Amino acid sequence: MINETDNLTMPTADEAEIAIEQSLRPRTLHDYVGQEKTKANLNILIAAARGRNEPIEHILLHGAPGLGKTTLAHIIANELGANIKITAGPAIEKAGDLAAILTNLSAGDILFIDEIHRLNKTIEEVLYPAMEDFALDIVIGKGPSARTLRLDLPRFTIIGATTKASLLSSPLRDRFGMTYHLDFYEPADLQKIISRSARIFNLELNQESATAIAARARRTPRIANRLLKRVRDYCQVKADGQITPELANCALEMLEIDELGLDAVDRQILAAIIEKFNGGPVGLTTIAAAIGEDVSTIEDVYEPYLLRLGMIDRTPRGRMTTALARKHLGFKDGLF
Ligand SMILES: Nc1ncnc2c1ncn2[C@@H]1O[C@H](COP(=O)(O)OP(=O)(O)OP(=O)(O)O)[C@@H](O)[C@H]1O
Ligand SMILES: [Mg+2]
Repeated sequence: MINETDNLTMPTADEAEIAIEQSLRPRTLHDYVGQEKTKANLNILIAAARGRNEPIEHILLHGAPGLGKTTLAHIIANELGANIKITAGPAIEKAGDLAAILTNLSAGDILFIDEIHRLNKTIEEVLYPAMEDFALDIVIGKGPSARTLRLDLPRFTIIGATTKASLLSSPLRDRFGMTYHLDFYEPADLQKIISRSARIFNLELNQESATAIAARARRTPRIANRLLKRVRDYCQVKADGQITPELANCALEMLEIDELGLDAVDRQILAAIIEKFNGGPVGLTTIAAAIGEDVSTIEDVYEPYLLRLGMIDRTPRGRMTTALARKHLGFKDGLF
């Protein structure tokens, strides 16, 4: 159920968008806006590794879609002057696929594994000795005569990215030297990201307009950049390219993105919990069925931001809307 409005606030990117994102992607830690704690830690990790002339430890990046995990992986490689090879959990189907990737690495290379929570168990088991001992255990033969051959691998670094750290098995999680959690961005940081992207697009954008766009961007850089593009188009057609906060707000209202960044689906989720289930608690599957959405889309895309805003609470018995949600949707409080 994808329509124009869903696409806009959907933090995941399609292929065409990935190409545009490349041009907006910061290349150095210095240009990477926000996430100060992670940046400070990474700066030390990178400087220390450089000083010792050693590869850095394996790094796990987790956080909601569009917060900058892939960007950060490329920045780490760039800062280290290391080669980066890219793969993803679902792309590695057989243990042999992973063995081929690992044996093709050189010392100091970075292997970026996106969606690492989607690696299957057998592949994970190949990864354990590879990460811990830089060794690949190959089983030769079958049955009682089978034996294991150990191949040495060069010292490399794995950077894993995941939107669902809780799905990672604990042996895999333990093999990462460092884990960084990327959080939703502060509005001031989003504003900087929007202003930076506007410069790359050669757009004139004053601070007030950048602030107006940032307010509706779900605290997510990918969405901030996407809304900037929509505002640019709107102002080009309606105002000869001049962007003002009022025009920016009109453009985003027209796309049904409200002043908190909620779109039509967010509001449907909240309204369903309030109207159909008396404010909850109600299970995710029931909500999904009630509004005709995918459970995982609600869980991965919509819920994190609604939780972050304090519009819903997660309880052991299901999701509940808060007074804030009722107020935002214009329900009289005390109704339920
Ligand atoms: N800290 C940042 N500073 C500036 N721009 C950023 C930052 N983080 C992300 N971006 C922008 O947002 C876009 C999306 O980021 P990225 O692709 O790294 O997200 P992701 O966390 O890997 O998402 P997914 O989970 O969907 O893979 C990037 O193209 C980049 O332009
Ligand atoms: Mg990514």
